[in-house]
Amino acid sequence: MCGIIGYVGDQSALDVALNGLRRLEYRGYDSSGVAVVGAGALRTARRAGKLANLEKLLSEGPEMNPMPGTTGMGHTRWATHGGPTDVNAHPHTDCTGAIAVIHNGIIENFAALRAELEGVGHELASETDTEVVAHLLEIELAGAEAGVVPEQPVAPPRAAAGAHPLTGALRRVCRRLEGAFTLVVLHRDYPEVVVGARRNSPLVVGLGQGEAFLASDVSAFIAHTREALEIGQDQVVEARRDGVTVTDFDGEIVEGRRYHVDWDASAAEKGGYPYFMLKEINEQPTALADTLRGRLSADGAIVLDEERLSAQDFRDVDKVFIVACGTAYHAGLIAKYAVEHWTRLPCEVEMASEFRYRDPVLDRSTLVIAISQSGETLDTLMAVKHAREQKARVLAICNTNGSTIPRESDAVLYTRCGPEVGVASTKTFLGQVAACLLVGLYLAQVRGVLYGDEVAAYVERLQRTPELVERTLARLEPMRELARSLAGAKAVLFLGRHVGYPVALEGALKLKELAYMHAEGFPAGELKHGPIALIEPGLPVLVIVPSPRGRANLHGKIVSNIQEVRARGARTIVIAEDGDVAVEPYADHLIRVPATASLFAPLVTTLPLQVFACELALARGLDVDQPRNLAKSVTVE
Ligand code: G6P
Repeated sequence: MCGIIGYVGDQSALDVALNGLRRLEYRGYDSSGVAVVGAGALRTARRAGKLANLEKLLSEGPEMNPMPGTTGMGHTRWATHGGPTDVNAHPHTDCTGAIAVIHNGIIENFAALRAELEGVGHELASETDTEVVAHLLEIELAGAEAGVVPEQPVAPPRAAAGAHPLTGALRRVCRRLEGAFTLVVLHRDYPEVVVGARRNSPLVVGLGQGEAFLASDVSAFIAHTREALEIGQDQVVEARRDGVTVTDFDGEIVEGRRYHVDWDASAAEKGGYPYFMLKEINEQPTALADTLRGRLSADGAIVLDEERLSAQDFRDVDKVFIVACGTAYHAGLIAKYAVEHWTRLPCEVEMASEFRYRDPVLDRSTLVIAISQSGETLDTLMAVKHAREQKARVLAICNTNGSTIPRESDAVLYTRCGPEVGVASTKTFLGQVAACLLVGLYLAQVRGVLYGDEVAAYVERLQRTPELVERTLARLEPMRELARSLAGAKAVLFLGRHVGYPVALEGALKLKELAYMHAEGFPAGELKHGPIALIEPGLPVLVIVPSPRGRANLHGKIVSNIQEVRARGARTIVIAEDGDVAVEPYADHLIRVPATASLFAPLVTTLPLQVFACELALARGLDVDQPRNLAKSVTVE
């Protein structure tokens, strides 16, 4: 969703904000803006479109330094309320032009607040929900009755940390807001502070020497500091050069959790690749190896990263739900096969956005596994909260240390994939699949369904898969060529069975996201019950073939399915393991992957589909890092 950076220190705030926005642009890129307080003025600049448009605007001005000052903020937007125009771009200001606000999330009661503000004479320029906050702050700072715009709008700052008038005003405004928000605010007359607040949206603080940062995620300030502070739910942070103070919305001081970020700025750079996505596809062997490293303790037990539950709590589990969105949901669908096979527990997988609205049957013996790369996806977070309200236990699989979903969970297993910037997930999907397999084995182990040596054998085999991923990636040039040749195709179908079915869904999602093509994934067996009507001569159909050594008859059945579509004119692109000769007569194009255990196969069969979508989109001249209409982290429901 939107990306936010706030800064107070002694560097040029404009430079810090623009550098931060470059790293945050993946969160939203339909407009951007900056605000800087300095030389007695608050200056803002904003533009619709990508960050480059804002940079151009700033470079066109006559001044060398269009925005002097060392206190400032920047915003990159993914539109919710109001289209992606210059006027709707953040920052938004109040009637006096002294206060600037940036926001991520949705203020659900904004219509009522707007009507109230307009009723007492405030003029709102944009269609956004955000702008009401600037005007509410104006009223709060005036200390006046609603609607009385004072002649002298500000009071002198008080000395006590957290007691700054801007901080107090933001606290009072937050108490009136409903919905999800991260807010960062500046005031013309208070260059000594930048103040932020959060509810159900991400905000993290960077602690430097004589400087502080407020940001949607650490990538925005990682070039300056790796010391970070988590900001909890319903908290306000006042950042000054000499430190930060965190309070709740009632003004009580709270302690945030400090942590050290264990990756550096170079991990978020393109490293010589033209696109992050290409880099991230190639990082998969390392991402997978890092996720799997050190997971078996000396006595052969699988270790999670955070465990606030006892072994008995896990033994008491009688049902598993997996909740996630997008690519993470597909990882969850794969997990179901492993969890049910290894633990004999019933397991349901649900799109997080649907979960709490259908009143799922949950109690303290239900385990909910929430999968999220960002740890901030609001649909998933709300599913987690609902589960905990119903007393279910929650285990999070997440790639982002310090994010909200792990904090709200009872146990956590981190995918250690490093920062993923490309909007379409690649390496974190592999990390999620591996983490799901580990969680399945963990449950089987604590519940005594698998013996320790069986678990250890699986983990050791899993730990050999990064090498298979590397071998697969090295063979995908024919897939790239094929993708380029299909750049003009109208649609593509993906078929799979067993764990190959979620892989088919993921392949189709990648193609939709990146190449804006109609793509569908189906269980190959379901094809004959309807979708086969879509087959027409020349239609590319990708088929993920299970191992011939796997489940009885499954392989033979999918070979029949390939014949069915080919007989109707489809162009078959078959992904099959080394040595599978039975598919050869029916494959117009055959892509080989190394053999592995059936449940581990998605770790290799997904790779040709990622490369296919990426290459096809590039051949269509599209930006694979920032596809239209999408955002990497969606913090609205
Ligand atoms: C967005 C992204 C998807 C991602 C999904 C879940 O929709 O565009 O690529 O899979 O969110 O994100 P999460 O951070 O929860 O894994």
